[in-house]
Amino acid sequence: MTMIDVTGLTKRYGPDTVVDDLSFTVEAGQVTGFLGPNGAGKSTTMKVILGLAAPTRGSVTIDGRRYRDLPVPLTEVGALLDAGAVHGGRKAYDHLLALAVANGLPRRRVGEVLARTGLEGVAGKRAGGFSLGMRQRLGIAAALLGDPRVLIFDEPVNGLDPEGIRWIRDFMRSLAREGRAVLVSSHLMSEMAQTADHLVVIGRGRLIADTSTSEFLRRSGEGTVLVRTSEPAGFALRLTASGATVREGTESSLVVSGLTGAEIGELAAYHGIVLSELTPQRPSLEDAFMELTKDSVEYQGVTA
Ligand SMILES: Nc1ncnc2c1ncn2[C@@H]1O[C@H](COP(=O)(O)OP(=O)(O)OP(=O)(O)O)[C@@H](O)[C@H]1O
Ligand SMILES: [Mg+2]
Repeated sequence: MTMIDVTGLTKRYGPDTVVDDLSFTVEAGQVTGFLGPNGAGKSTTMKVILGLAAPTRGSVTIDGRRYRDLPVPLTEVGALLDAGAVHGGRKAYDHLLALAVANGLPRRRVGEVLARTGLEGVAGKRAGGFSLGMRQRLGIAAALLGDPRVLIFDEPVNGLDPEGIRWIRDFMRSLAREGRAVLVSSHLMSEMAQTADHLVVIGRGRLIADTSTSEFLRRSGEGTVLVRTSEPAGFALRLTASGATVREGTESSLVVSGLTGAEIGELAAYHGIVLSELTPQRPSLEDAFMELTKDSVEYQGVTA
């Protein structure tokens, strides 16, 4: 079921076209990863969805309605755009209570979202003293106050430690399992591949790819196989003669593409070569992502 519908969205700031005729949907029960290099237009698109910026052209609806036509927006869509945007002097509980009251939501929701985000123990502490990870949780708690069916998170794992990243990832998955539509932006393909069911990739404001994560992984190319042997030079020749492409890896390992692990093993056995390692490598998602977006990055580094 389509929960967010972006149709022909264009956003201009002065002479700059920041979002360019962009169309995609965000479905219920899924985490949709919104990917693009810096400056691609992710945050701008999210702001338009949330009614914080007006489209130049095109339209955006949440469950069939524009944001400004939602009677109680917080009960339809929750968002975390900038975790820093919490009044530092306020206690976590008071911050959420103020939000709940201002939006006519029941007070009990405050305790519920604090529990859901694991913040009960620090509910009476001032948000100013929170770590980045705790501020993120508080922002997510606020987004959940109205029990919305649509959630939007802009780069929620930025700057978090591995444990914080894992927590956010699991949390998004659990929100999708409950049937909610989750839109989350990132510029890290590897991170999104572990979190998202669906990927919407943009560059310079334009749609580059709109695909399920599994399809993207399938198409992102074959992996390589890491091979270790005491006779790397000799075996590299055998591999090349069999049609493989061989690169030198670290510590005189061989990085082989064009043959499967099984084929490499058979070749080694046939020539009586002892292998000490034969490891299929996952294709580098970052490489696939950079390939996809290489024509649309804001500033290209110069490589000598
Ligand atoms: N209010 C604004 N006025 C003028 N230009 C803006 C405004 N907001 C964003 N831009 C420009 O629009 C482009 C897209 O910005 P946006 O923040 O949407 O990208 P992003 O994909 O979120 O990037 P990042 O990964 O760095 O967060 C950038 O070039 C930015 O400078
Ligand atoms: Mg952004």
